[in-house]
Amino acid sequence: MNGLYTSINKSMRNIVISTGAGISAESGVPTFRDADGLWTKYDPMVVSHIDGWNASPSKVIEFKNELRRQFAALDPQPNAAHLALTRLQNEWTDGTVSIITQNIDGLHAKAGSVALEIHGTAIKKFCMKCNDITGYDADIDVNDPCVCGEVSSIRPLTVMFGEMPHHLDKVEALLNDCHIFVAIGTSLNVRPASMFASIALSRGADTWLINKDVPQITFEYNHTIYGNASVEVPRWVDMMLAS
Ligand code: OAD
Repeated sequence: MNGLYTSINKSMRNIVISTGAGISAESGVPTFRDADGLWTKYDPMVVSHIDGWNASPSKVIEFKNELRRQFAALDPQPNAAHLALTRLQNEWTDGTVSIITQNIDGLHAKAGSVALEIHGTAIKKFCMKCNDITGYDADIDVNDPCVCGEVSSIRPLTVMFGEMPHHLDKVEALLNDCHIFVAIGTSLNVRPASMFASIALSRGADTWLINKDVPQITFEYNHTIYGNASVEVPRWVDMMLAS
């Protein structure tokens, strides 16, 4: 593996990190498309798609409430991969280190990192009428009233398929000025995150993938590392900080 690292150029500065469910797998948070992933048990078209929401908000809310309860019982903690990225954000002196995550588990923040949560967050809900954001610390009922007086307007602050992810203007700016890009723990099935590497590559960035399994398409990555995030991410961070 050391041979891979020799191509790093000291003049590279800004690092953009894009994380997916795999980075939190070793914290006990289920992924979506692995053998025991959430989408083997639930139909995402019903419980996580805007069309499913429009057809039956109660089915979506039931699923989100169940996840909320599982998450509260699990109380997941950051693993060595999240903590290594925090170290990189704190110790990298050659430019910025930005984390973009598809994850809604809040583990980057819990690890002390700053991250753009493009698919929203599992710990908040909001009113579609007045946009009031509150903690999602008890189950939602589809008939719950908001403080603004509207009824049946409260939903989780997570992005569903068919909806626009959050912070895309900031993501675009980061990718345009990115010298080193790394995707971690993602099957690269979901846009726009699956396209970030090709955008970064087209801007001249060196691109890395750290993942347990080999995704179907990896041609936009200059370097690939396959293994568990809790092992490979700290190793990659050590290498970056020493380069
Ligand atoms: P997936 O479940 O599609 O992929 C998880 C990836 O993590 C797989 O490629 C695994 O190989 C890898 N993985 C599993 N354990 C790992 C470990 N210990 N270390 C490193 N890698 C590991 O999850 P995402 O690609 O993040 O969106 O899914 C993207 C989006 O699809 C989610 O944000 C969610 C989902 O539907 C919405 O619901 C809108």
